[in-house]
Amino acid sequence: MILVIDFGGQYAHLICRRIRQLNVYSEIRHHSISAADVKKLRPAGIIFSGGPASVYYPEPPLFEKKILSMGVPILGICYGHQIIAKVSGGRVITGGKEYGKGVLKPKKSPLFKGLGKKEQVWLSHGDSVVKLPRGYSVIGSTERCKTAAYANEKKRVYGIQFHPEVQHTPNGMRILANFIKICGAKRNYSIKGLPQKIIGEIRKQIGDNSVIVGVSGGVDSLVASILIKKATPKVYCVYIDHGLVRKGETEYVKGMYKRLGFRNFYAEDASKIFLSRLKGVADPEKKRKIIGNTFIEVFEKKVRSLKKAHGAIKFLGQGTIYPDRIESAKASSAASVIKTHHNVGGLPAKMKLKLLEPLKELYKDEVRAVGKELGIPREYLARHPFPGPGLAVRIIGEVTPDKIEMVREADAIFISKLIKYNCYDRVWQALAALLPVKTVGVMGDSRTYGYVIALRAVTSKDAMTADWARLPNIVLEESSTEIINSIKGVNRVVYDISQKPPSTIEYE
Ligand code: XMP
Repeated sequence: MILVIDFGGQYAHLICRRIRQLNVYSEIRHHSISAADVKKLRPAGIIFSGGPASVYYPEPPLFEKKILSMGVPILGICYGHQIIAKVSGGRVITGGKEYGKGVLKPKKSPLFKGLGKKEQVWLSHGDSVVKLPRGYSVIGSTERCKTAAYANEKKRVYGIQFHPEVQHTPNGMRILANFIKICGAKRNYSIKGLPQKIIGEIRKQIGDNSVIVGVSGGVDSLVASILIKKATPKVYCVYIDHGLVRKGETEYVKGMYKRLGFRNFYAEDASKIFLSRLKGVADPEKKRKIIGNTFIEVFEKKVRSLKKAHGAIKFLGQGTIYPDRIESAKASSAASVIKTHHNVGGLPAKMKLKLLEPLKELYKDEVRAVGKELGIPREYLARHPFPGPGLAVRIIGEVTPDKIEMVREADAIFISKLIKYNCYDRVWQALAALLPVKTVGVMGDSRTYGYVIALRAVTSKDAMTADWARLPNIVLEESSTEIINSIKGVNRVVYDISQKPPSTIEYE
């Protein structure tokens, strides 16, 4: 495996995904990992990621220096490149800023094998390495940065100021493949055979015990529940309808699990309790907390009744995936720290259930690939993500039954148009949100004063960054017309053209 040491930001995930795409298994660890722990992982190579910090911050993210002399090949990227140079005796200054596309002139090095005389690279730095440590030499320069790439070929330590993991560095994958070659890592990691391996691991972990799985209807919990079902017949799936789900969702999910052969599937209609607790609450965080706590309460109650009816249940299965775990909180292979916003995070501690997270090492595209291997119909695997707190985070301000109806209907219309014009699979996620403003309109000859629906569709690879989708006009036009004509109380539709960051995908 290749170990990615995380110095912050989203870069570490992108690098890790790229290495896996090159068929080498890769994992991320926080930069505070000790050299002893690195050794235990027996990596074939180590990559130091980029990050938003400067080596001149009062407390810059550091690493244990011993890692540099373990004899394992190392590649530092951006901040990683600078911090390696700095702690090894080189000099880094603030200056030589380069943001965006640049041209690299690579020199002869195994890292740059197969590259041209000039290569387009993507840079994003405010600091620069200006003096190299002893034993290091320049292997590439850009116009503004003489030491844009360095190497200590003897120690097999490399640094590059640019980002090979982004698409704007067209030959970035070749550079990463060269690094893999330098490491001598075998390119044999693939999804093929992975489902069987995971099923075997689940069996080992649970023995003869029963498992309760929290399912949402989404891809991750679906693939997780299929894997668990293949490992044991003693599986109970619990789906909670909090009254904030999409139009027709509960029936759809029931049908899906039935079609996939689940016999113990329980759909709990808890909408009344959720909606009564949300009454009068406008603050986004309060809304999320109420939904989270109520979810736990309803789920716990269901577990208790299932235990009464079927005897002991020892495990809680969840569809947690790799990016859900907070790598910056010293990710270790032991306990996974789950995003605070993750729907069922925090359940096991209270319920004394052991966690079973068969997908916790995988990215979304890998989860979909595992699902495909398992023969899950494409329609189910291609479903857009949907947030745990549901439509509540798409109704800005207080959630009321009327508003839920408006946003639910608008969502259904928008999604139907995406499907009609073959755009559903082209976007990562699409949604409708109800804005808390009223504007004036005219319908027939009368003045109206109604709400604004915002439509949002984004393209993304992993939801950590996202761009607004350039949809065909007809999709937006038909959605707008139908929403305004058929949803009472709405007289305006806007399309959201913000990127993430700085915006987020959801509205609250
Ligand atoms: P944001 O809004 O943070 O969303 O850009 C990123 C992705 O996460 C989903 N999301 C959630 N998923 N529980 C979830 O399971 C949540 O509380 C939650 N909030 C946001 C969002 O739909 C998007 O795919």
